[in-house]
Amino acid sequence: MENPFYKRDVIAIEDFSRQDLDFLLNYSKEMKRDPSRFKELMKGKVMVPLFFEDSTRTSMSFKMAMHQLGGDVLDFDPSASSLKKGENLKDTIKMFEGYFPDVVVMRHYKDGAAQLAADLLNCPLINAGDGQNQHPTQTMLDLFSINEVAGSIDGIEIGMVGDLKYGRTVHSLAIALSKYNNCKIYFVSPESLKVPESFLKVLREKGVVFSEHLLEELEDITSKVDVLYMTRIQRERFPEGPVGEQDYQAVKQAYSLKMEMLKNVREHFKVMHPLPKVFEIDKELDDTKFAYYYEQASNGLHIRKALLYLTTTK
Ligand code: CP
Repeated sequence: MENPFYKRDVIAIEDFSRQDLDFLLNYSKEMKRDPSRFKELMKGKVMVPLFFEDSTRTSMSFKMAMHQLGGDVLDFDPSASSLKKGENLKDTIKMFEGYFPDVVVMRHYKDGAAQLAADLLNCPLINAGDGQNQHPTQTMLDLFSINEVAGSIDGIEIGMVGDLKYGRTVHSLAIALSKYNNCKIYFVSPESLKVPESFLKVLREKGVVFSEHLLEELEDITSKVDVLYMTRIQRERFPEGPVGEQDYQAVKQAYSLKMEMLKNVREHFKVMHPLPKVFEIDKELDDTKFAYYYEQASNGLHIRKALLYLTTTK
């Protein structure tokens, strides 16, 4: 199969077929298995990381990926840039285009910013998260992680827990699972943070099998799934002002996964989380066989190495 990622932007998970994703996951698996084979692949190429919103994992794993592939990384700190003088995103991107980067990786707080930037660039743009909209490389590493844990994505039964209203990772992952066979999703959340109806409509149209549950049912659900995908309450995405603050306070610390809730889980059961986590997983789980979230984050390195290479090389 020809490389389906060459010269493509990575904006949304919807843009990629199951065959595309299988190609990426297989390539990433090989990079994880034997990283020494891929050391010089990006020699002479330059990545521009544009992170307009905070990030630890996505930012650092992309930079580390480029280093491990022998490529160069430009340094860019929005807080020390001419954005502070009022320069807009369009001008900033157009200016970088004139420096002929090989690939741009961008995170931005506005929905749709990734597409806007991609339209201005000749090189591939990889979306590292745009507002509440998409975080496709997180979804790709989540799919990779599910495959590692369960041996297949087809047939996976997964609980998605927490802020299902604002959490872009669960939305993207749910859409991605629609490309696989016989998956079942259990959505578990506080009443005020349920999956938006407009999004459930999309899932129904795509034939995704799902059910909705309140937090009281969490312990029952842990015994029915292969993976429990926990999420943080996205405080930064609540409306600004007293109403948003009141809504946040009402759900703050509404749930925390504890060992005692995992008494009847399946043999290979794992807890995943895109991280950062705050209170939603009790620390006692971190050093148990159930915790997969640190390895999940590490899987991001292999996925991002593969993406950097495949988008820039035929
Ligand atoms: N999961 C994730 O996107 O983490 P960061 O916000 O730290 O990049």
